Amino acid sequence: MKETRDLENCKFYIHTFGCQMNENDSERIAGILTKAGARISDSLEESNLIIVNTCAVREKSEEKLYSYLGRLASLKKRKNVTIGVSGCVAQLYASELSEQRPFVDFVIGPDNYQKLPQIISDNIGEKILSTSWSPEWNEIPNDLIFRESHVSAYVTIMEGCNNFCSYCIVPFTRGREKYRPMQNIIQEVEGLADAGYLEIQLLGQNVNSYKAPLTGEDFSDLLRKVNQVDGIEWIRFITSHPKNFSQETGLAMKESEKVCHQLHLPVQSGSSSVLKRMHRGYTREDYLEKIGMLRDFMSEISISTDIIVGFPGETEEEYQETFSLLEKVRFTNIFSFRYSVRPLTAASKKKDSVPFEDKRRRLIEIQNLQKKIQLEHNQSLIGSVMKVFCLGKSKKDSHVFSGRNEGYQVVNFKSKKDFIGKFVDVRITSCGPYSLIGEIVL
Ligand code: SAH
Ligand code: SF4
Ligand code: F3S
Repeated sequence: MKETRDLENCKFYIHTFGCQMNENDSERIAGILTKAGARISDSLEESNLIIVNTCAVREKSEEKLYSYLGRLASLKKRKNVTIGVSGCVAQLYASELSEQRPFVDFVIGPDNYQKLPQIISDNIGEKILSTSWSPEWNEIPNDLIFRESHVSAYVTIMEGCNNFCSYCIVPFTRGREKYRPMQNIIQEVEGLADAGYLEIQLLGQNVNSYKAPLTGEDFSDLLRKVNQVDGIEWIRFITSHPKNFSQETGLAMKESEKVCHQLHLPVQSGSSSVLKRMHRGYTREDYLEKIGMLRDFMSEISISTDIIVGFPGETEEEYQETFSLLEKVRFTNIFSFRYSVRPLTAASKKKDSVPFEDKRRRLIEIQNLQKKIQLEHNQSLIGSVMKVFCLGKSKKDSHVFSGRNEGYQVVNFKSKKDFIGKFVDVRITSCGPYSLIGEIVL
């Protein structure tokens, strides 16, 4: 047992479920452990410490976790490994996880990652649950982040959520909103620019409610400041809440040349009555007004969204309003989900009343509609030349590269030369509903 918990002899593997926030947290966990002497590995089999960073947002995310944990249980029968569970499910179900799954050695919540080296080295043979919350921002030094990419970086600006949308578990897993001091954010971005990073993605569950702890500056001020950092080419941010998305932020996007004209603005439903039951704090009309404002400011802005179908009590008429909203807005991309009951939430106290068959049909219908909209939009881009940030290459064909355009669409192109980490001009020659295909313009 002892050798697996000695950090110098520790080879660790992290499996991440969930959102970008969790991906960034996994980079922190990796940084904290590496700094303490452990080595990161991309092989599950060759590691003696396995950390599963979990997501609780939908029932399906939890199911995936439990099937993965089943795999780890059989691995542990064959090998001496330490198994830790972190993230949102860990925060919610620490004691259940530890009691019902004896192969789990420790459970750690999102506010406790700095304790990891100590937990791993000092508590040999003991089960540890560490899920305390601090109401203050907990700054993890920037050198304790082990980044996956050398060119595009996540920068967390806030944590938690105060909105309590009636379907959502996040306020229970991530706690109340805490904002990172503006100075620390800018310092991190400057450090990243010095290290050669070209793209920054500002992260938070609700970035538009950002308020700098010392100065009270808001998200639009932050965008303008990050825009001034030399060396960074593109700035994106996620996630925005329509209720908190202000005209000032729209203007800051328009006037800051590095901020991409791209926005993820989750609407959830096109029906004002459903939005009210979801506690979203805006109506269909408010949402459409914000879209109008954004398109007035930036005519070519690319907007994506999240949709939930089958929320408790959603009638056919209410669902049709979501359908018609998609037709009206013509999003560049959507992420759509069947409503899933989450413990502790207000909606979980109502009957999950929409039959599964209806939820299934509604989801398929909106996905088909969106597919048609995306195909039409992508076809209209054929022949145009666009700037693409090349981020990787195909596993099947080493001459096929993949990147994102300013609108965050996937663009694939062929090249003999390696362009990873570079901006290239690509002329679009063909497309599908979910990606564009083009050739390099030299
Ligand atoms: N503001 C958060 C939202 C996280 S949840 C963030 O991005 O950081 C991401 C999406 O999952 C939500 O926008 C919503 O569309 C979906 N979702 C959340 N709870 C859900 C539930 N109970 N059932 C189905 N989908 C849900
Ligand atoms: Fe999942 Fe939300 Fe946690 Fe992200 S913050 S991992 S989406 S539950
Ligand atoms: Fe969830 Fe709504 Fe907050 S979707 S993360 S409660 S804004």
